[in-house]
Amino acid sequence: MRLIIDTDAGVDDAQAIMLALRHPGVTVEAITTVTGNVHLDKVVPNVLTVLDVMGATIPVYRGAAQPLMPNGLHAEEVHGGDGLGDWPDRPAPSARQPEREHAVDALLRLTRQYPGELTIVALAPLTNLALAARLDPHFPLRVKEFIFMGGTIAGQGNATNPTAEFNILGDPEAAYITLESFPLATMLSWETTLHHPLNWERYDALAAIPTPEGRFFKGISGRIVSLIRGMSGRLGYLLPDPLAMALALDRLLILEEERRHVTVALVGEHTRAQTVVDYRFRAQSTPNVDIVTRVDVNGFYQLLRHALGG
Ligand code: BDR
Ligand code: CA
Repeated sequence: MRLIIDTDAGVDDAQAIMLALRHPGVTVEAITTVTGNVHLDKVVPNVLTVLDVMGATIPVYRGAAQPLMPNGLHAEEVHGGDGLGDWPDRPAPSARQPEREHAVDALLRLTRQYPGELTIVALAPLTNLALAARLDPHFPLRVKEFIFMGGTIAGQGNATNPTAEFNILGDPEAAYITLESFPLATMLSWETTLHHPLNWERYDALAAIPTPEGRFFKGISGRIVSLIRGMSGRLGYLLPDPLAMALALDRLLILEEERRHVTVALVGEHTRAQTVVDYRFRAQSTPNVDIVTRVDVNGFYQLLRHALGG
């Protein structure tokens, strides 16, 4: 499998990248970056640090520094000011630099180089994907598979707008364009993430793995874990981006999915950025998204353990 990861790393993005790098038979061809959880200027060094920890030298490309319509949205209260959990023992900055080529140019070039071969996993606002689709409308047709973490399927969001998920609210126009442009996408929604937490016993087992990868996983998770562990009703650690990545790496982890037409609401005082699912096939549009609704959490845990060398 040839993979491109589009990311706003981000603690859970970092964990997703770790999963991909340790998965047998996967070549990560590129990591493209975008503003989201934190600004692009923090995302790029974060990705380079993850690659250093993993001993990988995958090319990293700078992408969009702003969404199509600037909104200043970040998630530093979750991911920390640095985007990697403000871990006091964070490794020293990487000596590596990102590539000179823009992420969007890299997406276009790589899909021309490997037509029909690349899987793109998007873990962030979809700005880079939308720009690529607008620059070259054939771009989505050259992609083998497109999987994204984002959106809601029943209006239960995690962002300032009650029905919106963070990655879609980060760039609603880009999400709209991307979903209209790709013939078929696989979607891991916020609700499906909520329904598949990693229980605390399993988190503790992963955090105790005495490898550099295990220590890094635990270090960057510390802030979020202490934030949510005390919350009532939180049955475990939510890992949206790693879960989306796992589904891309091993489709057998998808236990249930539904093919529906999905688009993005662009206006609405309370509903801007909500993903709108046509459950009753009323819009007469062709279904464009495989909505994942049930996942093999045990298999997901095994992938995580393997990635951390446990
Ligand atoms: C998504 O938003 C970001 O904060 C996470 O990295 C993930 O991609 C979850 O809604
Ligand atoms: Ca992310």
